Amino acid sequence: MQFNTILIDSQEAISVLTINRPSKLNALNRETIQELHQAFKMLEADGRIKAIVVTGSGDKAFVAGADISEFADFSVEEGGSLAAKGQELLFDLVENLGTPVIAAMNGFALGGGLELAMACHFRVASENARMGLPEVSLGVIPGYGGTQRLPQLIGKGRAMELIMTAGMIDAEHAVNYGLVNHVVPQGSLLEFCKKLAQKIANNSSVAIAQAIKAVNAGFNNTSNGYAVEIEAFGTCFGTADFKEGTTAFLEKRKADFPGE
Ligand code: COA
Repeated sequence: MQFNTILIDSQEAISVLTINRPSKLNALNRETIQELHQAFKMLEADGRIKAIVVTGSGDKAFVAGADISEFADFSVEEGGSLAAKGQELLFDLVENLGTPVIAAMNGFALGGGLELAMACHFRVASENARMGLPEVSLGVIPGYGGTQRLPQLIGKGRAMELIMTAGMIDAEHAVNYGLVNHVVPQGSLLEFCKKLAQKIANNSSVAIAQAIKAVNAGFNNTSNGYAVEIEAFGTCFGTADFKEGTTAFLEKRKADFPGE
């Protein structure tokens, strides 16, 4: 598949997906959101890919937000539809993807950029990364899930402050908040994330997909996370990965998961 705004580099079980509009600090325009949707769908359907790392092109930004030039003259209806379509096409898709997604935040992660990172399953930042939700400084609010996912990750009071002040926090602050799991030098960010991705790839991809579903269910008001966990747990017992994982343990060897 040919893309204009993103790059995909797949090596064995790991794909690195790079948002590639460095002259606009990788801001998410309509085309980028559409292409990211297609790319995530494609990678999820590819049984060889066991983990995805998402990052931004250049050394300045992960993603500096939604592309402000595209929505500056929108009406009420167009604004609502922008948020609804974006959430469905990209942010909810990433959060619920069966393949693990790690955000490698290599610089500014603002507005829609931080929202994309928060939709990923977890985050690693480089030392120079700065993040925030500056939307109220533009007269709008976060519309790609930011008002929901930021309080989930850092707590309501901290999220309220960050949203209301439209301020930015640095990577050290973000790790203290639990917004990112690790902070590493910019030059080693991708290698660090690929190593984490490889650790994930060595485990059962089928079980990981079930774990993602169960964890996410606990944050969904319309589902019972414990009930989803029980069902997902049972489902694992019918998989070839479970047979291989338990057999390998009993035979005192490393499991070689078939991924089904
Ligand atoms: N939408 C559209 N274009 C954006 C953008 C965005 N969210 N963020 C950056 N850009 C563009 C700039 O317009 C500029 O384009 P130009 O060279 O054609 O004028 C280019 O990216 C470089 O950005 P610039 O502002 O010159 O870089 P900087 O180093 O001075 O500042 C930021 C960096 C991140 C502080 C600044 O770009 C910024 O505040 N961006 C908007 C952040 C934001 O409000 N995001 C939430 C959107 S809802």
